[in-house]
Amino acid sequence: MRSLILCGFMGCGKTTVGKALAALTGREFLDMDQEIERRAGLTVSEIFARFGEADFRRRERELCAELGRREGLVVAAGGGALTFPENAAALSERGAVVLLDVPLPVLLRRLEGDTTRPLLARPDREEAAQALYDRRLPLYRAAAGYVVNADGAPEAVARAVAKAVGE
Ligand code: S3P
Repeated sequence: MRSLILCGFMGCGKTTVGKALAALTGREFLDMDQEIERRAGLTVSEIFARFGEADFRRRERELCAELGRREGLVVAAGGGALTFPENAAALSERGAVVLLDVPLPVLLRRLEGDTTRPLLARPDREEAAQALYDRRLPLYRAAAGYVVNADGAPEAVARAVAKAVGE
């Protein structure tokens, strides 16, 4: 059974939808950020602060290569993971990549008060998010075989994803 890989911007619901989708389709759920944190014994913010973003991307790349060889998972990818073509290629090998599409204003509302995303921990948060969103959307679309409107309740989005991939 092929894996289902959820990608999209921070706050689009990869983790919450992913858990619902895993239950719905009988797959094991894996959250990439949580797996990286578990292996490192550090939070994502701590990895960024101590070792820098490049080190986090290396860990992310290694995990993508590993997950690309597995099957039967629902993977909540990190928000940046699928913006790297080599990660997209690895995860697409045995999996279907699904973009959870949510408009930026909704994402910003959801991310209000969040302190766990180092890329948004800056005074010009909204402008930075806008620039990142604009740069990433075409990359997500290039990586994803399916695009699902994800501006809704997690269970409803999970059902929409299952339908989109033909399950
Ligand atoms: C990142 C998104 C985060 C996490 C890290 C970098 C990004 O994951 O991987 O903070 O580059 O967009 P979420 O999308 O789960 O927040």
